Amino acid sequence: MKQKTKINKRKAWVGVVSFFLLVAIIMQITILTYDFIIEKTDNVALIAVLILVLIAILSTVITLIDYIRRKVMIERPVRKILSATGRIAKGDFSVRLVPNHSYDKYDEFDVIMEDINVLAQELGKNEVLKTDFVSNVSHELKTPLAIIQSYAKSLQNENLDSETRQKYANTLVSASKRLSDLVSNVLILNKLENQGIKPQSEKTNVTELLAQTVLQYEEVLENKNIDLVCDFDDVVMQTIPSYLEIVFANLVSNATKFTPENGEINVKLKQENEKIIFSVKDTGCGISSEVGSRIFEKFFQADSSHSQQGNGLGLALVKKVVDNLGGEISVSSQLGKGTTFVVTFFN
Ligand SMILES: Nc1ncnc2c1ncn2[C@@H]1O[C@H](COP(=O)(O)OP(=O)(O)O)[C@@H](O)[C@H]1O
Ligand SMILES: [Mg+2]
Repeated sequence: MKQKTKINKRKAWVGVVSFFLLVAIIMQITILTYDFIIEKTDNVALIAVLILVLIAILSTVITLIDYIRRKVMIERPVRKILSATGRIAKGDFSVRLVPNHSYDKYDEFDVIMEDINVLAQELGKNEVLKTDFVSNVSHELKTPLAIIQSYAKSLQNENLDSETRQKYANTLVSASKRLSDLVSNVLILNKLENQGIKPQSEKTNVTELLAQTVLQYEEVLENKNIDLVCDFDDVVMQTIPSYLEIVFANLVSNATKFTPENGEINVKLKQENEKIIFSVKDTGCGISSEVGSRIFEKFFQADSSHSQQGNGLGLALVKKVVDNLGGEISVSSQLGKGTTFVVTFFN
């Protein structure tokens, strides 16, 4: 955001002083003219008429000067601002106002114009993010839906042998799971981003929660013959268990997904004074440094061979949750060797 601009007060004073000087000069002329008339004639009626005419002329001149002053200094910028805010209200965020003065001579209207420019720019950015998000979600919805449609059709074939039927049914189950994962991730992300009602924090047995989460991956780990090494301290802390579960589940799930057969995964939970450190280390494909800076973005997936098993929202969600809980997350990795995610919470 742009820093608040300093308004040029000196310029405003110059305007006010010049206006008063002008009025003073006009009054001086009136007095001099009055003296002149008095000297030339003693016809009271004529003097009265002349003074009246003089006053009328002077009032018109002052009103005219004030009218022009208001037109140029107030009405013109106000009209410019109103037309811009009107366009923004109609959803046109391309509006950019050019201030009337150079930066060092800004008045209040120039500052308002600059602020409107920043507002329009930020609203425009949000609009792009929203559109990108909607198109990403739609794309992610389409893929499993197409799978479901085509396999459901294939299942209608009565001549299928039971093995193929089972295979198709499994595909249907995994595609619908992908759909429901996507929908729940989007819902949680939406809740976190809108900072709506936050779940209550409660005294949580973190060790038990982590153990339960890891257990859910037992079967996959066994199938891939991955060695799981756990080292947990007994940790109890005040936190939001459903949020913590998101962190544990996503990091363990990624480690399981990106580690090839016969690999090893180390999951640690350590308490060091007020710090609670959770880490997941795997011997998977690793992440290059260019990719490393993008893995927390929504829908980002570096490894296309596993893209069917996720939607790129997991780490975005983890980052949001960790930020929300006041923690920190870091990643270190070596391509082809493995990755370690470390999450630190402060008790
Ligand atoms: N443990 C890991 N090892 C290697 N790459 C990883 C690991 N965790 C995450 N990544 C990379 O970060 C990307 C984003 O992860 P995530 O947001 O969880 O999405 P998803 O798991 O749905 O692909 C992954 O697609 C992958 O490229
Ligand atoms: Mg994931």
